[in-house]
Amino acid sequence: MNPGKAIAALGAPVDIDVSKVEPGQLLLAEWKKKPVWILHRKDWMLKTLSEPGLLKRLKDAASQANQQPAPAYVNGNYRALKPHMFIAVALCTHAQCIPDYRPAPHTVTQWWYGGFHCPCHGSMYDFSARVIEGSPAPLNMPVPPYYWVSDTVVRVGEGSPSGADKSWTPSIW
Ligand code: FES
Repeated sequence: MNPGKAIAALGAPVDIDVSKVEPGQLLLAEWKKKPVWILHRKDWMLKTLSEPGLLKRLKDAASQANQQPAPAYVNGNYRALKPHMFIAVALCTHAQCIPDYRPAPHTVTQWWYGGFHCPCHGSMYDFSARVIEGSPAPLNMPVPPYYWVSDTVVRVGEGSPSGADKSWTPSIW
């Protein structure tokens, strides 16, 4: 392991360039040896997040559990500081498998709005990684601390240049 990677594994923040992530694309990065997603959400994906038919199926629609560092990361149904750029630790809260990206509606179930589906035991999440009722996973997937260094570079691992939220951990990774 090179020194930069060794430091990142210990939890140092990582800068991720998202300039080439097209709308609808999912980028996989790494922080603290954990997989991190950056999903560039399209307008129609954002719209699904406030569909009554989806909201009534969510275990924690308002993101009240300790699965993001601060209320600012909740931002309504978006769970993101910038609605189009969603960032999450890509671990199912049941037994930490990496869920599959399943954006196409009606593919997992008839009512499926698009989101993430865990291949291990079937947990389902929406495009904000909020867990859906009937899933074995108890909580929404974690949103890590982060802030935008520029329009296209996000620093994952701390919530501001002062290092805020650096030591925050969710209830379940
Ligand atoms: S690990 Fe995802 S449903 Fe069990």
